[in-house]
Amino acid sequence: MPSNCKHLISINDLTNRQIEQVLDLAKEMDEALTERRKLDFCQGQIMATLFFEPSTRTRLSFETAMLRLGGQVISFADAQKTSSVAKGESLADTIRTVEKYAEIIVMRHPLDGSARWASEYISVPLISGGDGAHEHPTQTLCDLYTIQKEKGSIKGQHVALCGDLKHARTVHSLALALARMGAPLATFAPDGLQLPSHVTARLAEFKCFPRQYQSLPQVLEDESTILYQTQSGRSKNGRPRGTASQLANLELAIKDRFSALYFTRIQRERFFQSEVSDAVVNSYRINKELLAKAGDQILIMHPLPRNEELDYEVDFDKRAAYFRQVSNGVPVRMALILLLLGLERWESPPTKRPRVVRDQVDPCENPRCVTANEKGASPRFYRLKGDKRVVACFYCDWEKLLPVSPTQEDVPARR
Ligand code: NCD
Repeated sequence: MPSNCKHLISINDLTNRQIEQVLDLAKEMDEALTERRKLDFCQGQIMATLFFEPSTRTRLSFETAMLRLGGQVISFADAQKTSSVAKGESLADTIRTVEKYAEIIVMRHPLDGSARWASEYISVPLISGGDGAHEHPTQTLCDLYTIQKEKGSIKGQHVALCGDLKHARTVHSLALALARMGAPLATFAPDGLQLPSHVTARLAEFKCFPRQYQSLPQVLEDESTILYQTQSGRSKNGRPRGTASQLANLELAIKDRFSALYFTRIQRERFFQSEVSDAVVNSYRINKELLAKAGDQILIMHPLPRNEELDYEVDFDKRAAYFRQVSNGVPVRMALILLLLGLERWESPPTKRPRVVRDQVDPCENPRCVTANEKGASPRFYRLKGDKRVVACFYCDWEKLLPVSPTQEDVPARR
């Protein structure tokens, strides 16, 4: 049975309904794992994991997921050094080769847009395990599953994103999903490390304009979040509106302010120049002392690995959710494998990729884009909603202002 979401490269490849379906199926897988049921849905199927960047959780949880489903795994943990890429082979040739050995491929690569580009060469499903500083959709599904499991819903949960929001791909996919699913966002990032415009532009399409904080204590103590949350519960004359139980729920929400603080490390490997100063690193460290200012029910989330931003003393607090995020990685990825292999049917129609409007004309301005670095990868752009003079890279989503008098006619997408 063909799958209707063929590859998973961006979280925007899934509709909200499809995300819900992944989470529902993950819950079933979670129960099966808890009951230690032996599953054989993927018997006879092989997954290839092709990792050109270091990984602990993403690769091992995908492999565990496939093995738990009765399938088998072939793997490159250090493909940059141990695959023929080290002898100068292109990514395109590598992926076309791996396709001959496996029914499904999971790939992590340091170039933004590499996963989308590689997927154009193959007909088996490709799942991105992270493409440079661009996106990491499967981590987002694990994060959403964690929020839903612990908070009961995603809609309406206030989430504050803290850290290197510019380079953290997990944050990009998560912000896009939360905005679409109706979860208000706030951000706190050291100077120069705020969310990139290719993410904020898309958040704006969903009327999501994250509130920006200047320090971590400010995030934890901000009373205006309380006012913001209170608005929906008050009538025009300022009196509380709603039934007694709704108001009780509101009080609870007020006490907690944010439902989750999502931390991410400074992604030093993605900086072009300069070291990160200690002052920057120390500006957003969460420890026991700061946690004392947070609500009782808040989730402290982190995709891991952690560096200095997350103190080890936080681990013993029940609000620390990051190792629960890790264990949710297996059922979520089991669900994804089943859906992408077509062993479970998607319940809603797929999303459409944007139409390419400029092809091979001028370069993408992102120096980390696959089109600027891989043999045979040529730039192509799609039009953004709103400003007609701005296009975005088909692979890495970086925006580009068009020259004053564009002359090229619209061209159809290759796929
Ligand atoms: C993240 C990644 O690789 O983007 N890790 C993960 O997959 N859980 C986060 C990071 O490297 O900081």
